[in-house]
Amino acid sequence: MSKTVTIIGQGYVGLPLAEEATRAGWKVYGYDVSDRVVNGLNSGISHIDDLTDEDIAGMVERGYEATTDPRCIAESQVSVVCVPTPLGAAGSPDLKYVEAATQTVGDHLAKGATYILESTTYPGTTDGICLPILEAASGMKAGEDFFMAYSPERVDPGRIDFQIKNTPKLVGGINDASTEHAVDFYSHFVDTVVPVRGTKEAETSKLLENTFRHVNIALVNEMAKFCKELGIDIWEVIRGASTKPFGFMKFTPSAGVGGHCIPIDPNYLSYEVRNRLGYPFRFVELAQEINNSMPRYVVSRSSELLNHQAKALNGSKVLLLGVTYKPNIADQRESPAVPVAEEFLNRMAELSFHDPLVETWNLSKDYSLERESDLQKAVEEADLVVLLQAHKAYDLENIRNSAKLFFDTTGKSDSPAQFKL
Ligand SMILES: NC(=O)c1ccc[n+]([C@@H]2O[C@H](COP(=O)([O-])OP(=O)(O)OC[C@H]3O[C@@H](n4cnc5c(N)ncnc54)[C@H](O)[C@@H]3O)[C@@H](O)[C@H]2O)c1
Repeated sequence: MSKTVTIIGQGYVGLPLAEEATRAGWKVYGYDVSDRVVNGLNSGISHIDDLTDEDIAGMVERGYEATTDPRCIAESQVSVVCVPTPLGAAGSPDLKYVEAATQTVGDHLAKGATYILESTTYPGTTDGICLPILEAASGMKAGEDFFMAYSPERVDPGRIDFQIKNTPKLVGGINDASTEHAVDFYSHFVDTVVPVRGTKEAETSKLLENTFRHVNIALVNEMAKFCKELGIDIWEVIRGASTKPFGFMKFTPSAGVGGHCIPIDPNYLSYEVRNRLGYPFRFVELAQEINNSMPRYVVSRSSELLNHQAKALNGSKVLLLGVTYKPNIADQRESPAVPVAEEFLNRMAELSFHDPLVETWNLSKDYSLERESDLQKAVEEADLVVLLQAHKAYDLENIRNSAKLFFDTTGKSDSPAQFKL
């Protein structure tokens, strides 16, 4: 039997994994519940930033098939689950996609096959939630008749120096045999596979990584605020500290945190700590409070800048540049640009936006903005231009020189300190 894997969920995480597995000679099924995603992929169209249409065509040539038919799972030695793990009501983890995908795998699982969960989740999910679903659906015994492991995804969309192949992969199985099966699978196409003690350690490692980023971003955001008050240039402070070759890692202030990971995943950990132990995970809660305050801070700094020019925010033309959650990718999930825009609108600014990667910006279910068609004209006409993401398509020097007033929240332009976050 040829090496066959089904990857469940063909989004930002599952699709690059599918690509890498096809390169290593695996027969790859990309199972997804979305007809739109599956039809697009089978017609050679990529829907994520990290893969081009040519990449998809290459995958299809190497035998990749996207499908909505779960029967492919029965002929796969490995099934990997890469479905969303959003927050539900009151900020609690919502595992409905993981549960549904696991049920689908359980309904078709072959004897001796390996199930791997990659979706970010709280410690205990693989053993406590997925294992019973798989055993009940398949009628088989986990760890003996089939194998189970957790392996956190480390995709960083838009990044080219570290991709699946050269980013070490953590694996924790429910028993030694499970860890071995999962390590063997990833070793076909990942340079370094690192086994950890168990599923909970692997699950918690991922949450530590994301919480580490969340907390350190909050640290520089808080410092940015008081450095401004003290007349200290935070960007110079960070440039200086970054010259230390050990013991320091660079983080920069911003209008807030976005994307599928940082604003969401640490909640999975704090929820579990509170739920199981009854006390708060204070670092996460503090980081959230500080990072969530940044959009409002951006707007009040903007208001001050306008004030210096004897203008009120009310009625001023404000142009936002870059509304995705990070530079050079089209992903808008949890983008801090939305709360920034809402605050400008609350304060009666006349809002417009430009982003090379977003044509129509849906701010809410019933309110959207169309991108300014002529960037130069929009920059010249605005009372204030606020840079939220320094996409590489932007000529920052020209934008800064053409704008009546330019506020850089990214630190990427040569603007004087008072015009930066
Ligand atoms: N995007 C990232 O940068 C990133 C990085 C690391 C980890 N993660 C984690 O990886 C997981 C997946 O995130 P993503 O960004 O790839 O999500 P995504 O929304 O891009 O893709 C998920 C896909 O799963 C499909 N899906 C949903 N339910 C399904 C089901 N029951 N069966 C089959 N397919 C189903 C959806 O149709 C969608 O195409 C999440 O837990 C996320 O936290 C994401």
